[in-house]
Amino acid sequence: MTCPTGGRVRPRSPHTDVPLAIGHGATSSQPSTVAAMLRLLDARPGQRVLDVGAGSGWTTALLARLVGETGSVVGVELEPELAADASGRVREGGFSWAQVHTAVPGVLGWPDGAPYDRILVSAMATGWPEELAVQLADGGRLLVPLDGRHVLARRRGARVHRQAAPGWYRFVPLR
Ligand SMILES: C[S@@+](CC[C@H](N)C(=O)[O-])C[C@H]1O[C@@H](n2cnc3c(N)ncnc32)[C@H](O)[C@@H]1O
Repeated sequence: MTCPTGGRVRPRSPHTDVPLAIGHGATSSQPSTVAAMLRLLDARPGQRVLDVGAGSGWTTALLARLVGETGSVVGVELEPELAADASGRVREGGFSWAQVHTAVPGVLGWPDGAPYDRILVSAMATGWPEELAVQLADGGRLLVPLDGRHVLARRRGARVHRQAAPGWYRFVPLR
């Protein structure tokens, strides 16, 4: 596997549950962490999903697999080089219903595509990301690492109910 910065990285064996460096100081999270996040997010076929911090494009592809071709996935990544590589990987994977965009500096998420049924955030927030919560559809779920915890938010009309899941996690900061 080629690292987005051009260096070689060792492929992750299915038995190695560790994060993988993807360049620009970012990592692709360890598989058990991503599995825990996806279980809480509970993305279903046909849903519209936003993947914030698309990194390598791995979570974007996993979400595309979960929603299937009747759904759609919008990935956003702040590092333009990572976003371009992720976009290529998702395209090469055949997920025509998923796209990765370079995030607009100062804009959290991808408001143009809102509302979303599911929003996955793979970078650590230090305060409640209201800008993302407003992009959530009625009945939707937002999973965000917040101050070390996985916080699952569910929108019911104007109300957003938040609950922290068990466990402590580390991520690169949500900028
Ligand atoms: C843990 S990595 C994500 C790994 C990725 N989900 C994957 O499957 O490879 C977190 C990523 O979030 C990105 N990031 C941080 N703040 C962001 C923001 N406001 N919008 C979009 N991406 C952001 C970082 O550049 C980094 O690539």
